[in-house]
Amino acid sequence: MHHYIIANWKLNHDRDSTIEWLIEFQQKFQSVASVKVGIAPSFTQINLVADFLNNWNLWGKIDLIAQDVSRFAKGRYTGEVAAFQLKRYGVKAAIVGHSERRSNFKESDQDIVEKIQRLCEKEILPIIAVSKLEQVEFLAKAKALEQETIIVYEPIEAIGTGHSADPDNVNKIVEGILKIKESNLLKILYGGSVDAKDVSDYFSCPKLGGFLVGTASVKAREFLKLLEKIG
Ligand code: PGA
Repeated sequence: MHHYIIANWKLNHDRDSTIEWLIEFQQKFQSVASVKVGIAPSFTQINLVADFLNNWNLWGKIDLIAQDVSRFAKGRYTGEVAAFQLKRYGVKAAIVGHSERRSNFKESDQDIVEKIQRLCEKEILPIIAVSKLEQVEFLAKAKALEQETIIVYEPIEAIGTGHSADPDNVNKIVEGILKIKESNLLKILYGGSVDAKDVSDYFSCPKLGGFLVGTASVKAREFLKLLEKIG
């Protein structure tokens, strides 16, 4: 089973720096069967990353991932980006429920359920970020985990702080997620200050299927170092 490693660029990179990142990455990236990579740019860079994957024949080795999606399918929702628009560019999966969206944009568990529904309607894989088991329970009760999903455990205190979570605690939450019924889980990932220095600490979590990487993915060099540790 491969590890899934997602570069979540968040609100970083414009057109030029995206091109620089992609060129550096392509020159040095050694594809190995044990690691699958996803890149999650801002919406404005989705087209550019899609072109890059086309030109270098990298679809299949690298997945294009959206950082979010609208909970609406279409219509009078100024500023929103819908699942059907993402699909058009070959977006394979979308992150929903990230704690930065929950806290900065007041997204509720019910919003996340609706986003998951919109993604499933367009056959885009939901990558659901959670910081507590109760959030997973809510989704299970709302029948939002019946179709294939990936869940990312991201404790709030570990995100962007440089203090990654204790692997034993991560293991406990992973076990807790696996016990929640009515799910069709492809993988459970961990996210929160993962970098090349500490990623190997999590090799002791047998059921962890990979990582969502923010800060350590902004520079291609750092992200490549992290991949080397895993591959
Ligand atoms: P971080 O971000 O690696 O900077 O902690 C992870 C995430 O929020 O996805």
